[in-house]
Amino acid sequence: MTDVRPQPTPPAGISREKAPEPELGDTPITGDRYYSAEFAAREWDHLWTRVWLIAGRADQVPEPGDYITAQIGNESILCVRGTDQRVRAFYNVCQHRGNQLVTAERGSLAGGQFQCAYHGWRYDDTGSLLWVAVEEDFPQGNPCGSRNLVEIPCDSWAGFVWFNMDPTCDSLADYLSPVAEQLDCYRMGNMKRTHWVTAEGDFNWKVVQDNFNESYHLPYVHPQTVASMNEHYTGCQFDLYDTGHCRMLMPGGGPGPLYRGRADRTFKSLAQDFEFWEFDPEPFRDDLQGLRVALQQRKRELGASKGYDFSSYSDEQLTDHYHYTVFPNLSFSMKPDGCIFLRASPHPDDPEKCQFDMWYLTLFPEGVSEYYSNSMRDWVAIDHQVEHEVGKVGDISCGPGIDQDVAIWNTQHKGLRSRGYRNEYLAGQERRIRFFHDNIDRYLAMDPT
Ligand code: FES
Ligand SMILES: [Fe+2]
Repeated sequence: MTDVRPQPTPPAGISREKAPEPELGDTPITGDRYYSAEFAAREWDHLWTRVWLIAGRADQVPEPGDYITAQIGNESILCVRGTDQRVRAFYNVCQHRGNQLVTAERGSLAGGQFQCAYHGWRYDDTGSLLWVAVEEDFPQGNPCGSRNLVEIPCDSWAGFVWFNMDPTCDSLADYLSPVAEQLDCYRMGNMKRTHWVTAEGDFNWKVVQDNFNESYHLPYVHPQTVASMNEHYTGCQFDLYDTGHCRMLMPGGGPGPLYRGRADRTFKSLAQDFEFWEFDPEPFRDDLQGLRVALQQRKRELGASKGYDFSSYSDEQLTDHYHYTVFPNLSFSMKPDGCIFLRASPHPDDPEKCQFDMWYLTLFPEGVSEYYSNSMRDWVAIDHQVEHEVGKVGDISCGPGIDQDVAIWNTQHKGLRSRGYRNEYLAGQERRIRFFHDNIDRYLAMDPT
């Protein structure tokens, strides 16, 4: 008998509308972009000082007086929550004679005031200079109330604290469009940072962003993926937005139609998922293409009983890879229960070094405080502020999968320095790299801030 019950309509989730393809440039991606100090200085003057950057997570500063510091190039930015609940960002510089006001990565104001360690000047949580020693001895007048910290634009989105060193910048919402509105359904503001790793490597920051702007490397760097996702470019969608951001939609939950491997390899690769979702893949042994939709349906059926709220996701979001690169230096790789956050930051004075951050953000199911994160293959706890691990590339793990990417970057950077590097020779599916460099050039052509 045919089942005539009305089937619930799956939520719309993120729009999969294809963005119009932009016209791309043809300026060679020369090696000196990756190692020239002169090029790095231009990036600083024209790009880093103009773009919105992330200082940390808003839940690091839950109470008035809580602060974090963020490093970018030679700058240290101080972000503090005021008694009015607003988070403000300042250059971390005492306005007396320039001593760095705060040295800790995060902390809480003692007595509600910052006090400079050098001559004791005190500022409140809005950056106002409240007190100086021997105030009558300043011929130019008492600096209190006027010689305040230098404030810069600060905003929050998705539980991140953002800052911008350009006082005339566009709003964060305009800057992040249309990525922010697409990603809002993931409720990143409710996610907890459960992994926080910084790896220091001998490569330029753009090596990292180039890597996350293409998936051509998957069968070679991540050979395990071919059995469980459709990594071939014909199965993926790439969208390049005129704000400089990109996305890649890659089907998951099973291999693509070009997969010629064994079903057992697919089953092994997805074993954890199948076990968690009490899903028997055997009926699909000769129809691996059918796995993806069946797994989506299973997750839809069991999601609520396992504490998940999938109501804002489309079916595709339950299995597929929604990978966003946010200009200039971020990637968000979205999962139904979390996000891999990746960031490449330039070294203050050596273009051949980079700080690479991997944060994993976990969306805990309702009522759950301890959780096994499939993406990280690790148990995580909701009430634990995660420790920041820092180490050299190779000595520190950035998590399964990402370590495979990291392992390539030192050798690629060396090759980019060689006289034998004859600039890029990009595949069509690598056009997000071209677009990324076009956008860098767009910034470099602007006046310095
Ligand atoms: S430099 Fe800060 S009080 Fe003198
Ligand atoms: Fe990769």
